[in-house]
Amino acid sequence: MAGRFQAPKGTFDVLPAEAQRRARIYVAAATLFARAGYGRIDTPVFEDTELFARGVGEATDIVSKEMFTFDDLGGRSITLRPEATAAICRAYVEHGMHKLAQPVKLWTWGPFFRYEAPQAGRFRQFHQIDVEAIGSDSPLVDAEQVILLDELLRGLGVDGIRLRLSSLGTAASRAEYREELKAYLRAHESELSGEVRSRIDANPMRAFDADDPGTRAVMAEAPRMIDRLAEEDAQHFAEVRGHLDRAGVEYELDGTLVRGLDYYTRTVFEFESDRLGAQAALGGGGRYDGLVEEVGGPEAPACGWAAGIERILLAIGEGDEEPAAGVFVVAADGQRERAFAIAVELRRAGLAADLDLAGRSVKGQMKQANRVGAARTVILEEDGSAQLRDMGSGDQRAVDPAKIVEEVS
Ligand code: HAM
Repeated sequence: MAGRFQAPKGTFDVLPAEAQRRARIYVAAATLFARAGYGRIDTPVFEDTELFARGVGEATDIVSKEMFTFDDLGGRSITLRPEATAAICRAYVEHGMHKLAQPVKLWTWGPFFRYEAPQAGRFRQFHQIDVEAIGSDSPLVDAEQVILLDELLRGLGVDGIRLRLSSLGTAASRAEYREELKAYLRAHESELSGEVRSRIDANPMRAFDADDPGTRAVMAEAPRMIDRLAEEDAQHFAEVRGHLDRAGVEYELDGTLVRGLDYYTRTVFEFESDRLGAQAALGGGGRYDGLVEEVGGPEAPACGWAAGIERILLAIGEGDEEPAAGVFVVAADGQRERAFAIAVELRRAGLAADLDLAGRSVKGQMKQANRVGAARTVILEEDGSAQLRDMGSGDQRAVDPAKIVEEVS
């Protein structure tokens, strides 16, 4: 036998039962976003590498070590998208969407790719729901989006949700703060992990995410951006919080929240679930007021988030599969052609109908009908007569073989 293949490391196949659970999330999201005026957008799964390098930031883990990047046959550097925001900003600029009524509200759903060490809830190909509103700096946008993710998660029955909320100020105020943080980290260099020490210059704020006890102790006392906000940023953040309070959304103010992407300004947030292990983030996002300009567009303040489908599925747990209803057409000897015709007719009439496609005996067909969860069977007897059987109660009655669709409907 030839060597067998497996799905590549960090990827998985979605089998039918799982596909049904995903579809439920999709429908809930699509319904929620349509109600709030968000339109669906789809961008390519690959883009110019430079878009992510510039958009997400060279010093981030995502860009510096997690991208699937290759040269295509024309010699262009291509990257499988690690996230949606930079690409949606690219599309906003490319299609002149700044000329539309602002903000432009968009959402997407699809596969994303990061070369990470696979573990529970972490994959190399994963799926996100992503929401963006581009072209408004109103705190109402931030609040609307946090509320959307909160409603989505609650509506899907995700338990143990925690919302962490913070503000990172604007690029200018953060630049000043970064210098202060770098000086603080240098003063405590000997207590930090090697990894954090090596990134003091490139990405000091990621030290807040470190796991090792030494760094954590240092970071517990570290200066925080949330205490250094400029007047306007603090005002903006206070308004966002006010809107959330009035909407009854609970959150924890958490000045240690730093996101793994460089484009954030002002509001940042992350939803976690205690049902998840180390990879606790269900979804997160925030404001990114400079990104559209960064990718060559006009000034267009924006806000958005993304949530991981696999994480949501993990947090929801297995759950019950919906029972498949429908009719199974059972054929005695010589009745297979008629059974096929009747199944086709039932389907054309909008009914769920199935039949044996593997040459089973009548007994085997009844078993198969049970296996697929058929609510009823139509049994075509050898003499051409027909029976309709309720699989739940076992009740059975003769039906007119020429009027099966009517009888079943
Ligand atoms: P992110 O925090 O990098 O944000 O990803 C959002 C969510 O995607 C995470 O909370 C997690 O649920 C899921 N996720 C990320 N990486 C993986 C992985 N390797 N395996 C499974 N799930 C994963 C962003 O991507 C931003 N673009 C969000 C955003 C939109 N900010 C503004 N607009």
